[in-house]
Amino acid sequence: MPLAPVDLSLIGQVLAADLYTEQGILLLGQNTTITAAHVILLQKQRVREVDIIQSLTEGTGKEVSSQLFQLEADSETVAAYVQALDKTRLLFDELTVSGAPSLDHFSSIFFDVAEKSTKHLGLFRNLYVLEGADSYTYRHSLNVGILCSLIARLMKWDEERVAFMGTAGFLHDIGKMRVPKEILLKPGKLSAEEFAIMKKHTVYGYEIIREMKGGSELLALCALLHHERLDGSGYPEQRKVDSIPIECQVLAVADMFDAICSDRVYKGRTSPFEAAQLLWKEACNGTLNVEIVAHFVRYIALLYVGAKARLSSGEEVEVILIHQDEPMRPLVRRMGEFLDLRHDRKLTIEKMIG
Ligand SMILES: [Fe+2]
Ligand SMILES: [Fe+2]
Repeated sequence: MPLAPVDLSLIGQVLAADLYTEQGILLLGQNTTITAAHVILLQKQRVREVDIIQSLTEGTGKEVSSQLFQLEADSETVAAYVQALDKTRLLFDELTVSGAPSLDHFSSIFFDVAEKSTKHLGLFRNLYVLEGADSYTYRHSLNVGILCSLIARLMKWDEERVAFMGTAGFLHDIGKMRVPKEILLKPGKLSAEEFAIMKKHTVYGYEIIREMKGGSELLALCALLHHERLDGSGYPEQRKVDSIPIECQVLAVADMFDAICSDRVYKGRTSPFEAAQLLWKEACNGTLNVEIVAHFVRYIALLYVGAKARLSSGEEVEVILIHQDEPMRPLVRRMGEFLDLRHDRKLTIEKMIG
């Protein structure tokens, strides 16, 4: 087990064994996730090094591939996704060692899988049935790219802009590669200080894309401004409606949807129906673009017609019909009977199961 020095880089690491004072008093138990307060405590006790579990990795992608192969019959499309995931991991990690690769490297990974997944909707549906946090950042990048090109199509933008949005989505969080791993991969909630560091991924992303051969100002702005909100409540510049390019507004919707559906920290997930409901709420509160959300929410709901889901009551149902007025509350079949979720408002679709 690796020994790590007792300093702030320990935050977020997990102890491999119980830790005692010289007098034999238990200081911290095995499997404790180290916080800043723990570091201070250890330093006061003059502990110089501790045994940690080497856990700061995003996973190998094996978990993702075995789940996808079980869920999805079209093995060619699954193989394309898994391969793209591997290449994304390599290329993103390369950034931490050498400079920014040229934009072509990213495009060659992304476009094949984006095309396959928009044609083969089964894969797209199953992306939100996956369990666990394996390869989260890379998966999130691929998924947001796919979602962004999808929204651009729904908005009837031309092919050039559709391709641009795919790349913008794929690269929007690339700045996270410059955020320390102990913050990026910390299990549990970030402290205020850690969150302030995490927020810098927007500025880092802008810088990386500006350095990239083939990267444009608008592409870099998409990384910089994807956490801005129309009412000025976002970051890093608290911009408002008119000063946020429409491309960044699309990105904000796709990013929020994927983040809600595949929550890394709590390892539980929210169903696409619940996520769509949350996006709609955000749009009504004036933070997201209403037109973009309306297009997207309706499409997502229609995509899941025929899918199996679990309700908040624990019952398994099949999605039968999407209503025009409230796409997020469809008609479902429970055993032999139909249930209109517009009327049973206490019930929600908690999880997609196939
Ligand atoms: Fe982000
Ligand atoms: Fe993101």
